[in-house]
Amino acid sequence: MSALEQGRVRPGGDGLANTAAEKLRSMVPAAGAMAYPFLLDAFHLAVSPAAGPVSFGRLVLAALCLLVATAAPLLGLACAYRMTKAEPSSFELRARRLAYLSIAAPPLFVLTGVGLGLLHIPVSDELVWVAGWLVACLYVLLGGEQERPAGSAAIAPSIAKWRVTHGVAAAIILLHLAFHLTNHLLGWLGPNAHAAMMKAGRTVYRSSVVEPILVALMLFQVAVGVRLAWRWSALPADAYRVFQIGSGIYLAAFILTHLNSALVSARAVHHIDTNWAWASGAPTGLIHDPWSIRLVPHYALGVFFVLAHLASGLRGVLIAHGAATTFANRIWAAGLAAGGLLAIAIMSGLCGARI
Ligand code: HEM
Repeated sequence: MSALEQGRVRPGGDGLANTAAEKLRSMVPAAGAMAYPFLLDAFHLAVSPAAGPVSFGRLVLAALCLLVATAAPLLGLACAYRMTKAEPSSFELRARRLAYLSIAAPPLFVLTGVGLGLLHIPVSDELVWVAGWLVACLYVLLGGEQERPAGSAAIAPSIAKWRVTHGVAAAIILLHLAFHLTNHLLGWLGPNAHAAMMKAGRTVYRSSVVEPILVALMLFQVAVGVRLAWRWSALPADAYRVFQIGSGIYLAAFILTHLNSALVSARAVHHIDTNWAWASGAPTGLIHDPWSIRLVPHYALGVFFVLAHLASGLRGVLIAHGAATTFANRIWAAGLAAGGLLAIAIMSGLCGARI
């Protein structure tokens, strides 16, 4: 169906103006992503007075900036949901997918910083970031309208097989994740307790047999997840499905960024031990370092979305096996609440809280 048939492009001056305004409105999630690093910069300015202690007003401003930055993916989720409809035009589909991509702004901004460092490109992260999103906006705005193949609204059987594979791989990855996140919770007892558990764990997950399998599984999961998200993002979806796609896109960007930071940049290139000091940005800490503050939303949402994404998958499995939708929805909500609490607990430890 062409854009004209859908009544989206009407002849006459008003129609064109409406369409232009509508198209620009679709760029709101990208604008939110562009603003993301500046919220972190504002946080840093607020917590770093030129002299004397941080005033109450500055503390409130800093808390607000960090809260809005951490909640930034919500804008992408809300816009992706609002843009979801059956039979979208090519432009609408591109705009919807850009909204989904904006959800991953926190890990993508970390990747930008680490990537520029690895490539020795002495350009400001913010400049590259804004330029990248502007290019993405131009691609969405200026791309053509193509006829979409008939039957594209159905999920192909081959995709259904990938869904099962994605679930089985997740169950295996969960073993490492349960250990990994419990390890970070031990930060509450201090770096020594964290190091002792990590030392024991490394004998397994860093062994020459397990580590390549773990990393390969993670990369496989990202590839299959992106394939599924690409397909699902073209189809009509309820709020639960939009959340599942959005959290999956965040996780895909998080995993690539995290593996690049830990295995490539820290271990392989800079020969840094990826221990508690590395994760917590010692000695300055995550909160007071202008670069490392970006790791706070990145890690916090990584922990939240990994549990929330698993809860979304579990909800689907429960409904497919005949469980009542209200029961499955409660399990989903409990998963999100658990993810939120775990994220707050781990981040408090990483930022210095101790018992
Ligand atoms: C607060 C959140 C997180 C922090 C602070 C963190 C920190 C770390 C650290 C310090 C390492 C290096 C481990 C070592 O040297 O033994 C690491 C490795 C890794 N992390 Fe995380 N992580 C977090 C969340 C996650 C999540 C949510 C996932 C999965 C989605 C994940 C997956 C991995 C993987 C696969 C490795 C590589 C393991 C290896 O072969 O060494 N992490 N992480």
